[in-house]
Amino acid sequence: MNIRNFCIISHVDHGKSTLADRFLELTKTISYEKMKPQYLDSMSLERERGITIKLQPVTMQYNLNLKPYVLNLIDTPGHVDFSYEVSRSLAAVEGAILLVDAGQGIQAQTLANFYLARKQGLAVIPVVNKIDLKDIDLNSVRKELADLTGLRAEEIICISAKNGVNIEGVLRAVVEKIPVPERNMKLPFRALIFDSYFDEFKGVVAYVRVVDGQIKIGDKIEFLGSEIESQVLEVGVFLPELKKKETLSSGEIGYIITGLKNIEKCRVGDTIAAFKSETDRESGAARVRALPGYQEPQSMVFAGIYPKQGADQERLRLALMKLKLNDASLVFEPERSLALGFGFRAGFLGLLHLDIIQERLKREYDLDLVITSPSVAYRLFKKSPLNSVISAAVRPADKKEGFEIIHSPSDFPDPSQIAEVQEPWMEIDIITPVFYLGAIMDLLSKVAKGMESRIKFVSLEYIGGDKGDLEKQQRVIIHYQAPLSLILVDFYDKIKSVSQGFASYSYRFINYQKADVVKLDILVAGDSVDQLSTIVYRDWAYSVGRQIVEQLKTILPRQLFEVKIQAAVGGKILASEKMPSMRKNVTAKLYGGDVTRKMKLLNKQKRGKKKLMKLGRVDIPAEAYWAITKR
Ligand code: GTP
Repeated sequence: MNIRNFCIISHVDHGKSTLADRFLELTKTISYEKMKPQYLDSMSLERERGITIKLQPVTMQYNLNLKPYVLNLIDTPGHVDFSYEVSRSLAAVEGAILLVDAGQGIQAQTLANFYLARKQGLAVIPVVNKIDLKDIDLNSVRKELADLTGLRAEEIICISAKNGVNIEGVLRAVVEKIPVPERNMKLPFRALIFDSYFDEFKGVVAYVRVVDGQIKIGDKIEFLGSEIESQVLEVGVFLPELKKKETLSSGEIGYIITGLKNIEKCRVGDTIAAFKSETDRESGAARVRALPGYQEPQSMVFAGIYPKQGADQERLRLALMKLKLNDASLVFEPERSLALGFGFRAGFLGLLHLDIIQERLKREYDLDLVITSPSVAYRLFKKSPLNSVISAAVRPADKKEGFEIIHSPSDFPDPSQIAEVQEPWMEIDIITPVFYLGAIMDLLSKVAKGMESRIKFVSLEYIGGDKGDLEKQQRVIIHYQAPLSLILVDFYDKIKSVSQGFASYSYRFINYQKADVVKLDILVAGDSVDQLSTIVYRDWAYSVGRQIVEQLKTILPRQLFEVKIQAAVGGKILASEKMPSMRKNVTAKLYGGDVTRKMKLLNKQKRGKKKLMKLGRVDIPAEAYWAITKR
């Protein structure tokens, strides 16, 4: 078999899924009647939002110069929050098509994904897409891409995925430039799990890249990491739906229906190997070594997920476990809140990731949820004789001792117990036309809200175009360092709006640095609502507190009694609002008569409200948590 394994990588919306559509048509994998735009984006959520969320493999047959080839393609997402999907795909292939939109040129995720591919030692085929667009400067995009990849501009393939121009040229390059996978048929079976999902009837379906040997239905296998055995129920390839095959062998990409019902035991990044019994091993057959697997992704954002109905807690746990099979970057642990009951604290790669997960839980598992305000993870050094010695010694703080990781504001201790708090810092790369440089700088100082020291400028690099020539849209990459919390909410939208959509950014974690933060408590009717509390910079506590309090006043449903909404730090009230009580005309039934009767009724109402105010609890609607999150 002439196999080529490759994926398409690019910045968001540069046309990966559309190019994949043309491949599917040209190789007749999908008939013209069945074809629909962005065919591989099969989730309804992907289709609605027009973004790829999940990697999707597909096997295609292709003839070149009368020779048949098997092309295994993995389509990947472009948004930075899903880069773990990209890195796993890259580990399963030998080459990548790096796609760049002719109208936008190289963007932040183009760079990030290109470096990932280079790190894996993959062959990279640079392709410029959307050449049908008007007013594009094709030469300058080609020059940029050539500078980046180190190839000659003439080697770059220019296509229109939408109109089907030069798609054959790309497939030819795939066959000619991407190395043939090594095929070690004689070795015992070994395969890397790069994705998986749970099927109610079939159990765990593992997406694998077979490295050594061969496997067929009925073979006994073991998962080297989780040390569990099983028997293969079915193997096959993706068309892109599952297509059963007799065998799956070295060099191929396909699926294994593992027979596992225990969801926790199948881990993405684990190795499936041919089962070796004790007697096999005693007779000299060595246990095969696990494949390198993947680095665990680091969760960047944490939020509480609670079922609206307490009884759904078990359903939520199962749903999260099943979703984790299909989204290996999701992490979660049980959590209990006074206001919301039992739920989970979950970690995500970014805010879009959080948004997608909550939407998938709602749609795919029919769950009604409350999501609490997201927060980054803080390192907390407590004041104690032991810790104060350690925390003084731990600089830079990458040692494990001496601190706790705080994922939830409700775990923040009293300020008197805190010696030091550290927050995650990121390296941020922003690519923008020079024209918007000033606007981007302004935005960054606005984001820092008067505390510019929180954003460190590192360097500026010019790419493409002619220096100083605004006509030719010369562009720059600005390298910054900043705390993650500053770019957590809305940063993407803000960058897009100040640059009219031309600038983009990507970020990666660098280290933890000292942060002057406090826990902002929110009290409703005198009760602290733990899941509304947030961690904020000390200097911002007042303005954030005021903002939340005012917003809650408009969101919370009116009660029969007056409700105080307050923001406080360490017991000190910073902002306070009163939500007036609902008015009920208790005198409506009176027909004239003495005024004292009216006064009597009004006084009774007043007394009742006072009593309610003392005893009354306010139910916080789920929408309030999400509104505060998005403030
Ligand atoms: P993500 O997976 O979300 O990163 O997007 P993607 O890279 O898969 O891009 P997709 O294929 O969804 O295309 C994004 C938009 O660009 C869609 O509206 C496409 O119709 C459009 N598009 C793709 N290729 C071309 C092209 O060659 N010309 C033009 N004019 N538009 C194109």
